[in-house]
Amino acid sequence: MTETQLARLERAHASIRERAGAPAAIAIMLGSGLGQLADEVEDAVTIPYAEVEGFPVSTAPGHKGAFVIGTLHGCRVAMMQGRLHLYEGWAPRDIALAVYLLQRLGARTLIVTNAAGSLNPEYEPGDVMLIEDHMNFTGMNPLVGPNDEAIGIRFPDMSRAYHPDLLKVAADAAGKAGVALRRGIYAGVLGPSLETSAERRYYRASGSDAVGMSTVTEVIAAAHANLPVIGLSAITNKATGGPEQQPDTIEEVFANAEIAGRKIEAILGRLLPALKGA
Ligand code: HPA
Repeated sequence: MTETQLARLERAHASIRERAGAPAAIAIMLGSGLGQLADEVEDAVTIPYAEVEGFPVSTAPGHKGAFVIGTLHGCRVAMMQGRLHLYEGWAPRDIALAVYLLQRLGARTLIVTNAAGSLNPEYEPGDVMLIEDHMNFTGMNPLVGPNDEAIGIRFPDMSRAYHPDLLKVAADAAGKAGVALRRGIYAGVLGPSLETSAERRYYRASGSDAVGMSTVTEVIAAAHANLPVIGLSAITNKATGGPEQQPDTIEEVFANAEIAGRKIEAILGRLLPALKGA
């Protein structure tokens, strides 16, 4: 019989619990090009994914993946450096496992970051968007299959997946950090090919403001586990799909992720202490 998600979670947790140390109340997932934020963590304990029992391990060359647990802006944090993307071939349930594990490590809030293209023509590369809601266009869901009631209910509510109270805390933090924040809807797609221009116009018509290849799977798992979420997108390229559309390059994505990443770092400087006090 295949191992249940709960059994897998308990095995994974047991294998790192001692090394992970004191509970980390804030979990942060670092998106593509945002990995440098892990360097800011003080007194960091780094646990490569390969050392977590039962955790999916990449066979891709150059894959860097680790939990980085320590202190950031005076708060205990557990970061995931190196995200698991569906397009790499991870099963949606593998990605959910990571979220549940962060919760077991003490997380009471999950901050997800990602790189995204802008469907909204007003956005510029280098901007940061606070995710107000999402649309799951991946065609996948991490909760498909038997449900572990000990983790969450069969049909979790998603009507306030990005809770209004936390949106306010995040917006206030950005304001105090002097970062002009966009607010919008994130369209999650499977990738790894980028969208056609027609697809981008379609996603825009659906009401989305940014498009990316992550986040929705984690946020569904977090809703399942009743773990509140804040989402921040680094806008890395224009993805409007109109006549002005330019070809996308990974160089552009990484360069703009770095610019937006500095803004996200500034937001975290205000956000983490605010969450601690909340
Ligand atoms: N589309 C999908 N994912 C992305 C993009 C994009 O334009 N930019 C960064 N991640």
